[in-house]
Order: sequence, then C-alpha cells, then structure tokens
Amino acid sequence: MKSLSYLNKYFLKYKWRFLLGILFIFCSNWFKVQMPHFFGQIINDLKGNILEGTKEEIFYFAVSSGGFYMLLSLASGFFLFLTRQTIIVMSRFIEFDLKNEIYNQYQKLDYSFYKKNSTGDLMNRISEDVSKVRMYLGPGVMYTINLSILSILALYQMISTNGYLTFFVLIPLPLMSYIIYKVSSTVNKLSTIVQEEQSSMSSLVQESFSGIRVIKAYNRNQQVESLFQDSAESYKEKNMRLVLVNSLFMPTIFILIGLSTLLCIYLGGLVYHEGNINFGEIMSFVFYVNMLTWPFASVGWVTSIIQRAAASQERINEFLKIKSSVKNESQEDFSFNGHIEFRNVSYTYPNSGIKAIDDVSFVLNSSERIGVIGRTGSGKSTLIKLIMRQIDPQEGEILLDGVNIKEINIDQYRDQIGIVPQDVFLFSDTINNNILFGSLDGTINDRDIVEVTKEAHVHHNIVSFKNSYNTLLGERGVNLSGGQKQRLSIARALIRKPKLLILDDCLSSVDTETEEVILSNLNKKSISSFIVSHRISTIRNATKILTLSNGSITEEGTHEELLFKNGEYASLCRKQLAEEAED
Ligand SMILES: Nc1ncnc2c1ncn2[C@@H]1O[C@H](COP(=O)(O)OP(=O)(O)OP(=O)(O)O)[C@@H](O)[C@H]1O
Ligand SMILES: [Mg+2]
Repeated sequence: MKSLSYLNKYFLKYKWRFLLGILFIFCSNWFKVQMPHFFGQIINDLKGNILEGTKEEIFYFAVSSGGFYMLLSLASGFFLFLTRQTIIVMSRFIEFDLKNEIYNQYQKLDYSFYKKNSTGDLMNRISEDVSKVRMYLGPGVMYTINLSILSILALYQMISTNGYLTFFVLIPLPLMSYIIYKVSSTVNKLSTIVQEEQSSMSSLVQESFSGIRVIKAYNRNQQVESLFQDSAESYKEKNMRLVLVNSLFMPTIFILIGLSTLLCIYLGGLVYHEGNINFGEIMSFVFYVNMLTWPFASVGWVTSIIQRAAASQERINEFLKIKSSVKNESQEDFSFNGHIEFRNVSYTYPNSGIKAIDDVSFVLNSSERIGVIGRTGSGKSTLIKLIMRQIDPQEGEILLDGVNIKEINIDQYRDQIGIVPQDVFLFSDTINNNILFGSLDGTINDRDIVEVTKEAHVHHNIVSFKNSYNTLLGERGVNLSGGQKQRLSIARALIRKPKLLILDDCLSSVDTETEEVILSNLNKKSISSFIVSHRISTIRNATKILTLSNGSITEEGTHEELLFKNGEYASLCRKQLAEEAED
C-alpha cells in the first residue's frame, strides 16, 4: 500500500476538487438516509387513521408524502451527480498527469534502457498500470468515502431507533464484504490471465500481418492458422473460467441481501412483540439494511482494486526511479566545430559482455571525412553510438573540440549532428514532414527542402509520385524502396545543416552511380563526416580511412596509403573489384 502514497502529491494538487467531492458525498448520503426514515413514517400514518379520511384528505396525503419522498430522492441523485463530476473527474486529471510523467521519463531514458525492456512491457506501464491506478483514484476513493459517510449516517438513524435490532441485522454484512473480496480477487486474477492471453494473441496476429509476405512466399498459411487457433482456444478456456466465477458473483450478493432482510423482519417481529418498535420502523430497517448492502459489498471490491493499484503503482514508481546512465551535466551553450578525438576508448555491452570497441584512438579534424570499413559485427555502429553519446565508454575518453564529451551540453551537441542510422526509420507521415523532422529551424521553406532532396538525389523520385512532397508514407501510404528510404533519410540529416554528418552504412541499397552523385554532393559541403560502410567505393575518397576488426583499428590512412601498405584493406579492395567485374 505504501507505493500509493506517491499519488498524494496529486491529491494535494487537486485538493479543492477532492474536498468538494467529499462534501457532495455527504450531502447525497444525508438525503438518502432520510428516505427510509420518512418511508417508515408514511407506513405508520397509513396504519393510523389516514385511510378513514375523505377522498380529498387521502389524495392530499398521497401527493404531499409522495412529492416529498421524490424530492429527497432527487436531491440525493443531484449530489451523486456532482460527486462523480468532482471525484471521477479528478481521477481522470491525475491519470492524465501520471501518463505525462511516465511519458516524459520514457523520453529521458537512454538507449540501453530500451534494449533491456520489451515494447509490450513499456506500453503496459503507460496503459494497463495507469488504468489500474486510476480505478483506485476514482471509484476506489469514491466508494470508500461513500461507505464511511453512509454507514455513519445510517447507523446513527438505526441506533437511535433501536440499538439491539441494529446490532443483529448488521451481522451478515462484514461476512458479505469478505466473500465479495475473495470473489473479486479471483475475478481479478483470472482477468489478468485473460488479458495476457489476449495480448499474446494480438501480438501473434500483429506479427503475422507484418510478416504476411514471408508467410505467403513460404506457403506457411496453415501453420500460422493453427498457431492462431491454439492461442484462441486457450483464450476461450480462460474466459470460460472467468465467466463462471463472474456468474456466481451476483447470486451470492442476492442471497446475502435476502438473509439480512429475513433476519430484519424476524428479529423486528420479536422486538415488535415486546412493544419496543413500531411497524413503520421495522420497514425502515429493511430499507437501511438494503441501503448498506452495496457499500459493504463494495468494501471487498474496493480492497481488491486497491491491491491491484498498489502493485501497479509499485511498478510505476520503480520505473520513475530509473536514472538515465547517460547524464546531461552541463547547461552551457555549445557550438560545435566538428573536431572529435577518441583516446583509448573501450566499450563492452553490459548485457552480452561483448567487447565491441577495444582501445580505439583516432582524430577527426574539422571538415574532414573519416571512412570506417570493417566486417559485420566489427563494432562500427557501436562507434557511432559512442560519438552520439547514446552510450558512455567504460575506458578512455572522447573529446569534442578538445573538451570531454561528458562535460558538454548533450542536447545542444546532438542538435548539431545529422545522423543517418543503419536501419532507416520513417514515420507514417508525409514525405515533407519526414524531412522536416530533422530540422530545428522554423524558417525552413520548400526551396530548402528541395535543395537537400536534390543533394540526396531523391528529388526526382519524389516528384514522380502523384502527391509529390505530400505523399503519405508507411502503413496507409506509399511504400518506398530501400534505396529511396535511405536517400530520404540523408535529406532529413542534411536539412538541419549539421556540423557533423554521420552515415551508418546508409548507401548500401543505392547503386554505385547514385552513390557517387550523393557523395560528391556531400564533399562540396565541407562538414565533418563520419562514414561507415561495407563498400570500398563509399569511403575511398575519405580524408582518412580506418579499418575496424573485432573492435580494434587495424589500419589507418588514405585509400592510396592503405593500398600501398598491401594489408587487409588492399585485399578487401581487390575482392570487391573482382566481384564488381563478375557483375
Ligand atoms: N545492444 C547490444 N547489446 C549487446 N551486444 C551488442 C549490442 N549491439 C551490438 N552488440 C554486439 O557488439 C558487436 C558490434 O556490433 P555493431 O553493431 O557495432 O557491429 P557493426 O560493425 O555495426 O556490424 P554491421 O556491419 O553488421 O552493422 C557485435 O558483436 C554485436 O553482437
Ligand atoms: Mg552496424
């Protein structure tokens, strides 16, 4: 339960709404409690000599008591409406705040956090867990306060009528709370299982949709279908169990209510016999007991809601406590000149223990171009993560314009980098907006966009689409070819006029001629560039070439120097030339 105390700050934020809500609960219940009492009086009047009066007198009695009874009911209902408008609305506000808080935390956390957690888990924090906490904030809090106030008011009325009868007729109620608590806990446990079953079913469906081309090409429809059937079968089974428990729920309550009523009439009769209670009062007792049934039933229900909310809030608290391992220590302005130095940098991935970068040192001077070549898994992309400061090295240091990267305002630094990642990602939005995503400058106009798409050699593709730059991409739009995506991604990096351009093997799907056009456009710009590739042709004109092998730099020099050296680079070069000749 302690975990829920985290939410107190929100109760404080909405304290006026909350206090008003409590006042409304009180008002609603006050009117409600008057109703059985008044009803008892009507019964007594009817038993008296009212019915022996004239027609007009009886009519007047019916209209006035009926009208008054209705007014009480209306007043109680009106305040119930206001209660929901304050307390439930408050819970929605807090839900909104909490979701924003969680989302902000997501944005702050670094790359390694996302590697460790699955998308499903991350989604659950912000949807499932928050909605369970919301059940506590809204209905949980509302029913608890309601029960307390209603019990006090009703008990006061009952005890002042007859204490002895009050004591005995209330005995079944706590028993009912306990039973409902047990049933609700079982229902909750089963619903969690059903939910898990459902989410595994939807991820199965989702995966088969995204992989539909492979499934059809390999003719695996039947296997996928039977997988789905198994999953659906198990979902159905779990749901059946839930339905069974759920259908026991209401009958149990009704039996207990019936028992209380019986007890009330039986004991009431005995007390009546002794002359300590009148007929109308027994009737009002039946009413009170019925009135208290739901709040007492809700104790059990609310307890299980609170337990679930506490478990969810515990997970949320743990998540909010996580600190990004990459910290931004500086708030000072940083204007980057594009000079990078690695000094004996080593990096080991903590989760796999793979030493991806091993004692790497190099210098990238302003406006120079470094090309990095190496086998797959040699550590090229890791090198880029280090430059971007998505991860911090365990050994050695990285200097930007001579200053340690850890002392630099990381947000401002990243603003000055244009990166084209290895796995290009485009949003389901227009081409225009996908390019503009790269820009921080509000004054970018269409001409600037065309300029960068021409540099990235993709303008001619874009204008061939019917909607040109307004073409929608992604699920409901046009699918671009691999090479088009890569070039669009380059345009996105260029639009921000970066001081450092990083290309991670992003010309792999582009033919060599197009590649040459793009590279010569980039060369004209004289910005520091860090270009990673498998292909010699991409990096041969770089100011400096590094060959990377198992995380270490094995050779360093210009294309000519390395050819002359006749080592690893030269042999790779020969191999690729031979392959090209075969093509
Ligand atoms: N997130 C990660 N967690 C654990 N190990 C990783 C992670 N990312 C990469 N590695 C490992 O680090 C090594 C270097 O990977 P990296 O992605 O830097 O290679 P690369 O040179 O970019 O390869 P490619 O040319 O295929 O893109 C590999 O052995 C890889 O398995
Ligand atoms: Mg890579």
